[in-house]
Amino acid sequence: MIDCHCHILPGLDDGAADLVESLDLCRWFVSHGYTEVVCTSHRTRLYPNTAETVEQAVAALQLELDQRGIALRLHPSLEYRLIPETWRPERLLPWQDDHLLIELPLRKPEKMGGIVPENEIRQLLADGYQPVLAHPERYLWASPDDYARWHDAGACFQRNLGALEGFYGDPAMERTKWLLEKGWYTFLGTDLHNRHYAEFFDGILP
Ligand SMILES: [Fe+2]
Repeated sequence: MIDCHCHILPGLDDGAADLVESLDLCRWFVSHGYTEVVCTSHRTRLYPNTAETVEQAVAALQLELDQRGIALRLHPSLEYRLIPETWRPERLLPWQDDHLLIELPLRKPEKMGGIVPENEIRQLLADGYQPVLAHPERYLWASPDDYARWHDAGACFQRNLGALEGFYGDPAMERTKWLLEKGWYTFLGTDLHNRHYAEFFDGILP
């Protein structure tokens, strides 16, 4: 099992704060049968990570895992927020050769400025990337037409683990059910940030 969305690199964003917490979350992945995870640190105004910072952090954490015999393979990537301050960086860092996790503002779509998601999705496809839209169920400002445009433009949708079980509240749960009925999800990711997430997921995962 591979996770395509998590924040377990120490100190890079609002995920794991230090090495101890990172290792704890890595052990949690292994305990649930994960063998590989894509480390998608935020690239936002607050956390302006780059391909280089993530690659260095992954190499360092992988070394710590290997030294301890924790059987988890890490891959470096980012979760790119479509806001003018951070999008689009010169060097993109995809996972599985061409996949790129993109996200939209959770509460204020106006933060995108002049960025139009479906245009970015089409441009990424034209450039040889497969855009993956992170947790569409959390964009409560989005209309059915918005989702249809993003989907039709060619984005894969990534559902967050726990969204269907209420981890992000009832409105996001209802949105998840609607997107499931549409059949628009391709990926399921944990978006794991800390122990609090892990404990909730313990009640869902085998
Ligand atoms: Fe995330």
